[in-house]
Amino acid sequence: MTATTATHTLNQLPAHFVYLDGRLCVEGQPLDALAQTHGTPLFVYSQAAILDALASYQRALAGRSHLICYAMKANSTLALLQTLVRAGCGLDIVSGGELERALAAGVAPEKIIFSGVGKTRQEMRRALAVSIGCFNVESTAELDVLNAVALEAGQRAPVSIRVNPNVDAKTHPYISTGLKDNKFGIAQEDVVATYQHAAACSGLRVVGIDCHIGSQITEVGPYLDAMDRVLDLVQAVEAAGVPIEHIDFGGGLGIDYNGEAPPAANALWQHLLHKLDARGFGKRKLLLEPGRSLVGNAGVCLTEVLYLKPGAQKNFLIVDAAMNDLPRPAMYQAFHRIEPVVPRPTDAAATVWDVVGPVCESGDWLGRDRALAVQAGDLLAVLSAGAYCMSMASNYNTRGRAAEVLVGGGQATLIRERESVIDQLKLERLLP
Ligand code: LLP
Repeated sequence: MTATTATHTLNQLPAHFVYLDGRLCVEGQPLDALAQTHGTPLFVYSQAAILDALASYQRALAGRSHLICYAMKANSTLALLQTLVRAGCGLDIVSGGELERALAAGVAPEKIIFSGVGKTRQEMRRALAVSIGCFNVESTAELDVLNAVALEAGQRAPVSIRVNPNVDAKTHPYISTGLKDNKFGIAQEDVVATYQHAAACSGLRVVGIDCHIGSQITEVGPYLDAMDRVLDLVQAVEAAGVPIEHIDFGGGLGIDYNGEAPPAANALWQHLLHKLDARGFGKRKLLLEPGRSLVGNAGVCLTEVLYLKPGAQKNFLIVDAAMNDLPRPAMYQAFHRIEPVVPRPTDAAATVWDVVGPVCESGDWLGRDRALAVQAGDLLAVLSAGAYCMSMASNYNTRGRAAEVLVGGGQATLIRERESVIDQLKLERLLP
């Protein structure tokens, strides 16, 4: 067992999270008290952090014709959707399930855009019935099916075509989407013909163009390259006689998990707007689909230390959250900071641990080689857990999904109850 002198790190915490009187707090609410009331694992979100992240985009786009459509796949819990919808956002959905969630959260249907490579006819029918704002279409085959479904319904479906600008977003291969060998979008050389095809379909109404080059992007360069290519395509499509009302630049802006320094949304968009203006597209309606950058650093996952298991090769800290709650480390080797909720005194010796969950897989780890001074029963906070954690959570090992609390306006509100075993078993049937 390796002892080090370091205790919890003094690195800056995400906005609205701060140690007060030796306890980690969010918007002034002590997290240990929330864990006491609601149990662990527990996701806790800061409403102010979400609204501040949104405000960074809104500041840059003020005075421009635009719609920010939160990519709800990042975290689709209803109360978070309500928070963003009430602040003016539309929603970017990728399934019929997300459509129903979006409607339940009270978004105006015309502020919904429907992305994704595999929409079913049933999903298209329902989206047409409620009159969503736009279908982001990814292939000619999908255009043809949407055309047929719209004609059956006596409607014209508003469509945007997702183009693949063949730009390297310089991110993890699983979350890079704008390269030629990804499954997403229409290749540049086919774009004009695809628009002409769409324009000739009487069940379709061409409204936009869209792209999304990847996720957790931390540089401005790939965005500027993608924008140049998309604008070249807009010019080519319009020269071929198909007008385009809006340009949707997708999402993808990264967050600081471990010292990454992505541009602020405001700064990124100042660069992008400068290019749009310079190329004469400054007045075009803009759509954005940010997910992670709105919610990622607004949430933490609280977990209790169950057991200390020191060993000759490795020391394991076994906690009550697992890969079913926090799948990103197992899936992408992703890094999330892990901090004590109530740090022990600075002279307490820290030990280097692998922080692991109770799931029966070696891949069930949350953090490797973390220096922490902890005892069984202590609480840890897994930081930057607002995006792609709860929305990717599963019931693996018949573990119920965690509860969620939203802190805002001086109040902590339970926004999702802990899933019970009864909840999990209720759709199953025993053999007679
Ligand atoms: N628009 C489209 C078409 C997308 O596919 C995505 C994310 C977004 C917008 C939002 O991207 P964001 O702003 O959140 O980067 N589970 C992975 C991330 C998958 C991203 C999928 N697409 C992770 O945990 O890192």
